[in-house]
Amino acid sequence: MSVQFRVGVVIISDKGSQGQREDRSGPEIVRLVTEAGGRVVSTKVIPDERNLITGLLLALADSGEVDLVLTTGGTGFSPRDVTPEATRAVLEREAPGIAEALRAASMRETPMSMLSRGVAGLRKRTLIVNLPGSPKAVIECLEVLLPVIPHAVETLQASVEQHPTGSLS
Ligand code: MTE
Repeated sequence: MSVQFRVGVVIISDKGSQGQREDRSGPEIVRLVTEAGGRVVSTKVIPDERNLITGLLLALADSGEVDLVLTTGGTGFSPRDVTPEATRAVLEREAPGIAEALRAASMRETPMSMLSRGVAGLRKRTLIVNLPGSPKAVIECLEVLLPVIPHAVETLQASVEQHPTGSLS
């Protein structure tokens, strides 16, 4: 049986947080995560404010209650797009292969995907991944990402005893 991973969803959108636009990406994330055997334990909508994003990511990762945080939105070139910077501020170790894989797979869908500056990485035992904002992009990226999550989470949860060097303490 595969690992049942716990997911925090962070929707980053000025309009969404003010109720001016219905969020369609969050529900797609919940649907796809659930289909992949994960459980969404938290969903929050916040504006494109660096301090708010960083604060929420810190709270989620340090709670010990989520294995994976998926953000959506704020990865592009608009002056308000600060999700990658806010995320990098909380990461202890980057996982560049994930961001590279998402962009590479997305390039087959649209050359616009190179405009997403999303990052991915680890804080404590939580993996944080930035997804672009559109529901279409979310679906395309999660198709690539979700199949590797059970193994990623299993590795993150490994106890120190399984690693004689104690490098995961
Ligand atoms: N990635 C995928 N897989 N599919 C898409 O349609 N759209 C792109 C890109 N990544 C897209 C994608 C577009 S149009 C933009 S502007 C950037 O993501 C940044 O989106 P964001 O600012 O909403 O995060």
